[in-house]
Amino acid sequence: MHILVTGGAGYIGSTTAAAFIRDGHRVTVFDNLSRGYRAAVPPEADFVQGDLRDRAALDTLFQMGKFDAVAHFAALIEAGESMQKAGLYFRNNVCYSQTLLDAMIAHGVKRLVFSSTAAVYASKDAPLSEDDPYAPANVYGETKLMIERMIHWYHQREGLRYCILRYFNACGATVDEHGRAVRGEAHQPETHLIPLTLQVPLGQRPHISIFGTDYPTPDGTCIRDYVHVEDLASAHVLALAALDERPAMTYNLGNGQGYSVRQVIQVAREVTGHPIPAVETARRPGDSPILVASAEKINHELGWQPRYPNLHDIIASAWTWHRTHPHGYLDQDA
Ligand SMILES: NC(=O)c1ccc[n+]([C@@H]2O[C@H](COP(=O)([O-])OP(=O)(O)OC[C@H]3O[C@@H](n4cnc5c(N)ncnc54)[C@H](O)[C@@H]3O)[C@@H](O)[C@H]2O)c1
Repeated sequence: MHILVTGGAGYIGSTTAAAFIRDGHRVTVFDNLSRGYRAAVPPEADFVQGDLRDRAALDTLFQMGKFDAVAHFAALIEAGESMQKAGLYFRNNVCYSQTLLDAMIAHGVKRLVFSSTAAVYASKDAPLSEDDPYAPANVYGETKLMIERMIHWYHQREGLRYCILRYFNACGATVDEHGRAVRGEAHQPETHLIPLTLQVPLGQRPHISIFGTDYPTPDGTCIRDYVHVEDLASAHVLALAALDERPAMTYNLGNGQGYSVRQVIQVAREVTGHPIPAVETARRPGDSPILVASAEKINHELGWQPRYPNLHDIIASAWTWHRTHPHGYLDQDA
């Protein structure tokens, strides 16, 4: 298939683009590079720089590309930022996703895999299944839920076939058979716990901050389900293949195991051999106490199995990436 990957210069989109190519697909990446990097795009993929808000650019893209499917990763993704800049998030994520959906329908492209998030759910102290209640704790999660609802109606009214994948906390890096990190996390700004923690042994920050130690969890810090980015990528390959049989799918992607902020920092200390001092500070707005996935549904229906469920291995792969790319892709993109 020829797959249009929006946001394919970002962390998960670029990793998944590479997985699609390994699976024999042709890939065109569309990204405005506001938060992504040209150097992250797999060399075998075509690259078009553009913004989803630009319907004329999308029309040209669809006319040239003759795509069979779209994998839609492009979004602004920072929960904290979304609480400061709600309008920007609704516009970029919701409005421009609608522009993309309209372009898809206008050009007869009716297969979509969409990047959603655990942030659509209410916090729960047991693994979340797909029919658990929604209650986004931040604007970012709300935008993803709104897009999910739009996709549902484009399925009903326009015949769009879709797979919504709700990732829990994406992490880790792609390491090749020679032990070299080829692709990894490089958000600007970075707000994710594992890369921030690894900046301490790199000498890029003096300590890691723990935001909130009074959550209703055993050690008082937030609990998340950390899932390796290559495992997310393999789920997209399965989802795309399943779209011919199954017209409307929604799945969680996680390991079913929660780790607190303190536990993640401790594993990072073990992996790096660095003491990584931690400083406890107040809660951040928009953080849910506990988000852990049940991925039984995609396991049962599509046979998805994470290959890298172990947190130590996940952080070790991230450390290989950050140690060898201390400035992410900036050196390569310059
Ligand atoms: N990182 C996580 O832990 C996580 C968890 C759950 C869901 N997700 C979802 O996965 C997707 C990818 O996340 P990521 O971590 O790779 O983020 P990322 O910021 O690395 O990638 C997003 C990409 O989208 C591009 N983009 C943003 N707005 C655009 C626009 N209007 N037009 C064109 N390109 C645009 C950015 O330049 C960037 O390259 C997002 O949809 C995110 O909501 C991520």
